[in-house]
Amino acid sequence: MKKYVFANWKANKTLAEVNYWLDNFPNSEEDQQKLAKFEIVLAPPYPLLALAKTIIERRHLSIKLAVQDLSPFGKGSYTGEVAAANLADLNIEYAILGHSERRRFLAESPQLIADKVQQALAYQIQPVLCLDQAYFQEQASFLQQATLQKLLLAYEPLAAIGSGQAESPQQLAAIKQTLQKTYGLVPIIYGGSVNDANVADFLKLCDGVLVGGASLKLIDFIDLLFAASQFDY
Ligand code: PGA
Repeated sequence: MKKYVFANWKANKTLAEVNYWLDNFPNSEEDQQKLAKFEIVLAPPYPLLALAKTIIERRHLSIKLAVQDLSPFGKGSYTGEVAAANLADLNIEYAILGHSERRRFLAESPQLIADKVQQALAYQIQPVLCLDQAYFQEQASFLQQATLQKLLLAYEPLAAIGSGQAESPQQLAAIKQTLQKTYGLVPIIYGGSVNDANVADFLKLCDGVLVGGASLKLIDFIDLLFAASQFDY
């Protein structure tokens, strides 16, 4: 199975910067072969999705698109929300949900996040549920058993996010087992200070990585991908 490599841009980038990043993303035949072992998924801010889709199609890039959030409601009178229905025709395959920054800065609750998961599933968008050790049990109790099996989990220890202090692979191996006891044998990706030097260690242990800071500059992200591509998993 391909390893997931998510690029989570968070609230960064402008139209011009998206043009630069995607116009220069490697896509020679040789590059494509190297990158074929990865499911590369880009999560730009909402206003940049349409442009990203256009460039990805024009350049025939093997990059999928994700949203960084989703409304817990359907379409309708919910000012400021972006509903799954609004995303039709944008080729959105994944939704990153319950990121710790949203739980922390926007007070997202486990119930709200569970509602977002349902919306994603109703529109055939794969939910990528972000979890930390502190609340993964509680979050699971807000989801039905049938829903748990449809998730892609992103284990993101709070202390590792944006700190330069990634979790140790040993810790990750232990938490992976614990997570799977609660959520079942679903794919698990790791996020938190992933870079070109440590990416292969994490890919050997789990199903992929969620990259924040090291996905912002194209050169850093390419270094990470090519470093990862030197191994078989
Ligand atoms: P980071 O962010 O790679 O900058 O640590 C990861 C994340 O928050 O998803």
